[in-house]
Amino acid sequence: MSVLPLAPPPGPAAPSPSPILREARLSDAPSIEALQAPWVEAGELLPRSRYDLCRHIREYHVAVAPDGGLIGCVALKLYSLDLAELAALAVQTEWQGRGVGRRLCEAAIAEARSLAVAEVFALTRQPLFFARLGFFPAERSHFPLKVWADCARCPRQDACDEVAVVLPLPA
Ligand SMILES: CC(C)(COP(=O)(O)OP(=O)(O)OC[C@H]1O[C@@H](n2cnc3c(N)ncnc32)[C@H](O)[C@@H]1OP(=O)(O)O)[C@@H](O)C(=O)NCCC(=O)NCCS
Repeated sequence: MSVLPLAPPPGPAAPSPSPILREARLSDAPSIEALQAPWVEAGELLPRSRYDLCRHIREYHVAVAPDGGLIGCVALKLYSLDLAELAALAVQTEWQGRGVGRRLCEAAIAEARSLAVAEVFALTRQPLFFARLGFFPAERSHFPLKVWADCARCPRQDACDEVAVVLPLPA
């Protein structure tokens, strides 16, 4: 009877490649639209026209999977000398729970810090996600510019259930 050599014990599993984060390019616009479409349809994210998205593409950070697919995005919108908003945050369902949302927000927050923004806010139905990133609950009335600029085009403006959260960025 022949004896087969024993296979070597398995070594540590190779780490699975993580998505890379980078600033968005104009050519990402269709993929950002496709990524956001289910949540726009569900009323979770505000719709944005292709024209508007292209005009504001420099606000976006994106996450790109090892296969090249765009699997996450976030926008940092500047409002005043002191204030910016994290908006348009989405991570493809298959990639959720793997730190991509956190990394995207951290990239946008780092950009806000580099611009010496005093505080970053978000309007969200996921306040616990933002709490994990250090955001605090805040009064919506603290952010009048945002309310005037965006709420007018929100399908839920008459029954809004978003809460405001804010992250102070001390100098
Ligand atoms: C909300 C969303 C962006 C989170 O992205 P994600 O990549 O799954 O989040 P992460 O894996 O980076 O999670 C970061 C932390 O937040 C926690 N977390 C994630 N989603 C959470 C939620 N909905 N509620 C509470 N905590 C949450 C994670 O457990 C993790 O905690 P840890 O750092 O202590 O381990 C993602 O679920 C999503 O795209 N949702 C649909 C779109 C949407 O609702 N966008 C609007 C957001 S304003």
